[in-house]
Amino acid sequence: MTNQANDPTSPPAGDLAGKHIVLGLSGGIACYKAAELCRALIKQGATVQVVMTEAAEQFITAVTMQALSGRTVYTSQWDSREDNNMAHINLSREADAILVAPCSADFMAKLLHGRADDLLSLMCLARPIDKVPLLLAPAMNREMWAHPATQRNMVQLDADGATILGVGSGFQACGETGDGRMLEPDELLEDIIAFFAPKVLAGQQVLVTAGPTYEAIDPVRGITNLSSGKMGFAIARAAREAGAQVTLVAGPVSLPTPRGVTRLDVKSAQNMLKASVECAKTASIFIATAAVADWRPASPAAQKIKKDGSGSAPQLSFTENPDILATIAQSARAQRGELFCVGFAAESHDLQANAQAKRVRKGVPLLVGNIGPATFGQDDNALVLVDEQGTADFPRAPKLELARQLIADIARRTRAAKQKP
Ligand code: C5P
Repeated sequence: MTNQANDPTSPPAGDLAGKHIVLGLSGGIACYKAAELCRALIKQGATVQVVMTEAAEQFITAVTMQALSGRTVYTSQWDSREDNNMAHINLSREADAILVAPCSADFMAKLLHGRADDLLSLMCLARPIDKVPLLLAPAMNREMWAHPATQRNMVQLDADGATILGVGSGFQACGETGDGRMLEPDELLEDIIAFFAPKVLAGQQVLVTAGPTYEAIDPVRGITNLSSGKMGFAIARAAREAGAQVTLVAGPVSLPTPRGVTRLDVKSAQNMLKASVECAKTASIFIATAAVADWRPASPAAQKIKKDGSGSAPQLSFTENPDILATIAQSARAQRGELFCVGFAAESHDLQANAQAKRVRKGVPLLVGNIGPATFGQDDNALVLVDEQGTADFPRAPKLELARQLIADIARRTRAAKQKP
C-alpha cells in the first residue's frame, strides 16, 4: 500500500490539488496580501507560478514570492531562461488560470486595450482565451475604483470574458475609507475554489436554514441548543460553489458568512419560519439543517424574572413551535414539484429507521440523518441519505466535503425529477 502523504509523485490533497495557477502581481500596496494568497493556494494543493510587473517589484520582492511559491519568479518578457525565449507562451499554456492579484487600475486599463508591453499583460493577451480563464482581483484607492473609467473598464473586461472577483471595503493604505481594497487572501481563496467547482446547480435558487434557534424566557434568558450551524453553512457554501444563488437563514451562531451567500440572521423559530416562507416563494431547493427548538415559552416575561427568596422556581409553560420544513414541504410550490425539500434529522440511535419515519412524517423526498452527539460542534460528520427507495451512507468526512457530496446528489435528483414526463 502506498502512503500518499509520503509519495512525492502524488499531488497534495486540497481543494486545488492538480491546479496550476499563474499568480500575476501588478503594482499596488496590496502586493503584501499576494504573499499570503500564494501560500494559501499552495496549501490547497495548487502549484503557483508568480509573474510580477516592474511596478509590483516596488512593493514586494521577487525573493519573497520565490520563497513562498518554490519557483523562480518571472518579471520580464526578455527572460532568457526559456529555451525558445517565449515565457509568455510557455507559462500561459500550462496554466489552469491566470489570477492577477493585485490588479491595479492601470493594469485593468492595459488589459482592456489588449496592450502587451510587459510579461504579465503579454501573457494575458497571449493566453488561449477558451482554455485559460483570467481572474482579476482589483486593488486601488476608492476614488480610482469609483471613477467612471475604471467602472467602464470593468464592464468591458467582464464582457471580454475575464472574471472580476470584486473588492473589499474599509480602511485604505492612503488613509481614506471606502471600496477598492483587494479582497483578503482567504476570501480570494474561497472564490477561486468556487470558480473551479462544477456548476451543477447553475440557475437554481437554494434556501438553507442553519444553526439553533433561541426562544426567549425573559429579556436575558432563553432556550437554545448545541447546534453549531457548521453543516448548514458548509451546505450553503457548497451550493454557491455549484453555481446556485443561495440564501442562508441562520439562527444565532458566530460563523462567518460563506462568500457570495445572502445571509438572514434570525433568533426564534417564528422568525426563522417567516424568513424561510418568504424565501421559499422563489427558491427551487430548500435544505433544512437548522435545529429548531420544538417548544418555546408560552409567554416570555417582559422583564427579567427575579429570584424571590422563597426557593421556588418559576413555572414555565410551553407552546409547540411551527414545523418550518413540514410547512414549506406542504406548500403548493413544493407539491407541484417546483421546490425540492430536504430535511435533516439528528438522532441518538436507530438512525435509519428514525430518519425514514421522519422523512415520511415531514413529507419530503429526501432526509439526511446524522447522529446528534457525533455532529454538534464537530468539523466532521457522517450522513445517511434516506429516500423512498432506501438509504445511502456518506462515511465520516469533513463537513464541507460531505456538503459537496450532498449538493452533487441533490443536483442529480433535481435533474432527474425535471426529466420525468
Ligand atoms: O422533528 P425534527 O426536529 O427532528 O426534524 C428535523 C428536521 O425538521 C430538520 O430538517 C429541521 O430543520 C426541520 N425542522 C423545522 N422546524 C421545526 C423542527 C424541525 O424545520 N420546528
